[in-house]
Amino acid sequence: MRIIVISATSVLAKCCVENWANRANHEFVLVGRDHSRIQSTVSDLSIRFPMSTFVGEVLDFMAPAQIQDLLDSLFQKRVDLVLIAQGSGTSQIMASRDLGYLAAELQLNAVSVALFAQGCTQKALKANHGTIGVIGSVAGDRGRAYNYAYGSSKGLIEVFVEGLQQRVAGSGVSICLIKPGPTETPMTRGHKGRFADPKAVAKLISEGLAKKSRVIYAPRVWRLVMLVVRLIPFVIFKKLKF
Ligand SMILES: NC(=O)c1ccc[n+]([C@@H]2O[C@H](COP(=O)([O-])OP(=O)(O)OC[C@H]3O[C@@H](n4cnc5c(N)ncnc54)[C@H](OP(=O)(O)O)[C@@H]3O)[C@@H](O)[C@H]2O)c1
Repeated sequence: MRIIVISATSVLAKCCVENWANRANHEFVLVGRDHSRIQSTVSDLSIRFPMSTFVGEVLDFMAPAQIQDLLDSLFQKRVDLVLIAQGSGTSQIMASRDLGYLAAELQLNAVSVALFAQGCTQKALKANHGTIGVIGSVAGDRGRAYNYAYGSSKGLIEVFVEGLQQRVAGSGVSICLIKPGPTETPMTRGHKGRFADPKAVAKLISEGLAKKSRVIYAPRVWRLVMLVVRLIPFVIFKKLKF
């Protein structure tokens, strides 16, 4: 398969790449914002998985014209799978005090992801082929006082992806919304709580993408947990501290 990984330096994305490369030989395009980090990711994976090929691409994730140019170039060849993974664990405290910080976080977690998802969908529809996995979060299921800056950006992704899913229905294109629960990656470093193993989460993501699942909760238990959370009436929800 030819696989494009947007934000390939993310731990979750790298675990997905390892999972795919462990099973078969693929052609990977690894996209990131920083040349040296992408090059070291390419070198590391090329050594560990010599039967697959890895090339790196670098761009500004906030620049629509650069995103369009990159996708124009990458989709000149057939693309089988895309994973869109960029994100930042927004500090609600900082976001509440600093509107510049809040704007930058929303730009990355919501706008940049939506631009890549839209651009890839257009290209995939033209080829009538491909699966696109977009990483959202369980945090997007409900607005909570302690993380609504991050959660609302993931909520935007959820609605955006649902629109894309309706748009591609009946075509050869599949769009999957990936909703991890708290997972042990640099994003959650220093946070308190229980975190899933990123390799286990990546395995569920890979399985869900192979099945073209519409929504992939990882670990699976979060589907039930968030169903319950979504059903809590606001008169009760507003009194809860989680
Ligand atoms: N870990 C969790 O608990 C959890 C839970 C639910 C959803 N998620 C989502 O999973 C995805 C992957 O996150 P992760 O947990 O694997 O964390 P991670 O390892 O910290 O990865 C974050 C990624 O985002 C990129 N990034 C950060 N700021 C950027 C910017 N300004 N411009 C462009 N790229 C930027 C990073 O690139 P650099 O390497 O260049 O910094 C890195 O590739 C994210 O969408 C995240 O929201 C994570």
